[in-house]
Amino acid sequence: MDDEMLELARAAMERAHAPYSNFHVGAVVKGRNGRLYAGCNVENAAYPEGWCAETTAIAGMVMDGETKIAELVVMGAGEALVTPCGGCRQRIREFAADDVQIHICSPEGLRRTVTLGELLPLSFGPENLG
Ligand code: THU
Repeated sequence: MDDEMLELARAAMERAHAPYSNFHVGAVVKGRNGRLYAGCNVENAAYPEGWCAETTAIAGMVMDGETKIAELVVMGAGEALVTPCGGCRQRIREFAADDVQIHICSPEGLRRTVTLGELLPLSFGPENLG
């Protein structure tokens, strides 16, 4: 993870549309192509219709024609680590192998690096469909 990813995650956090939770999250996906795709969480007055920062970032990557994740940054404030929710772990799984690193950050910087395999062990992925 480099400073550019951190910078983009900070900027994405500022774009969060989170008027209901006030919990701003930024995510940056690096594709295997080396390009960076940023996203923020986008909440909705119909609460269940909102979605996570990781989801926005993944959508940007796919729209750019990339389907392989090299690494990922998730950034949020607060005491607890802002780890991807269960649904996002599965969305990441679609485009990432078990050894892909996920860097859990606060606006101040890196807090902890984990792998997708640690977050989602024994996962079901595209390979399972043959
Ligand atoms: N959220 C994310 O965007 N990513 C995460 O990894 C955890 C949670 C968002 C969803 C919702 O808008 C807000 O944080 C509170 O759950």
